[in-house]
Amino acid sequence: MGGNRSPWATIVVGTEHVDMLPVGAKEIWSAKVNGEDVEILTTSNATLLDVLRDKVGTLGVKRGCDLGTCGCCTVMVDGQPQLSCLTFAGQVSQCEITTVEGLADGAHLAPIQNCFAKYGGSQCGFCTPGFLISAQSLLNTNTSPTDEEVKTAIEGNLCRCTGYQQIVESIQAAAAIHRGEVEAEEPASSPHPDPHPSGPEEPQMPPGHAR
Ligand code: FES
Ligand code: FES
Repeated sequence: MGGNRSPWATIVVGTEHVDMLPVGAKEIWSAKVNGEDVEILTTSNATLLDVLRDKVGTLGVKRGCDLGTCGCCTVMVDGQPQLSCLTFAGQVSQCEITTVEGLADGAHLAPIQNCFAKYGGSQCGFCTPGFLISAQSLLNTNTSPTDEEVKTAIEGNLCRCTGYQQIVESIQAAAAIHRGEVEAEEPASSPHPDPHPSGPEEPQMPPGHAR
């Protein structure tokens, strides 16, 4: 090992060894995520997307492009939609962050989620968490949006499947529920206190089925 080696990791570009960015110093990151206080040890230059997916475990936040162009990674920061792939976690420490997991009321889906399911706003579903967050951010401040306002709210979200019309219809249907003009759908069942029970209450698999 030569004495002139860089303290940073390197990558090979052609025949050259080029320094990569230094790893950030470790620091404590704290915020309120979906109503829960979280405190996590992470690097000072970690993105909010990485922290939410890899440390907090909110895997509903999707990594699409990692470049700020698809909207899949959208989360609410203090009520405003924000791309988590372009946000350093440190920029939003102490903030209130809502991911798609925070929209539902326990096991009961929020109106916006039910409407996406009912009106075909979600097909393959990969883009859906980002759309739901952008849509809910709009409905939190405007329950009577015009179609143009809906389209503006979701202009940073890309969908390859739906053609967008069903998404606009889904958001308008949820807006009608928020205005009290339409009853929210009754939940199909009561929320289970523990949706993943273990022990005697664990659901039995038929013989021969892998878990
Ligand atoms: S992953 Fe953030 S905008 Fe695509
Ligand atoms: S539902 Fe498939 S990308 Fe939008």
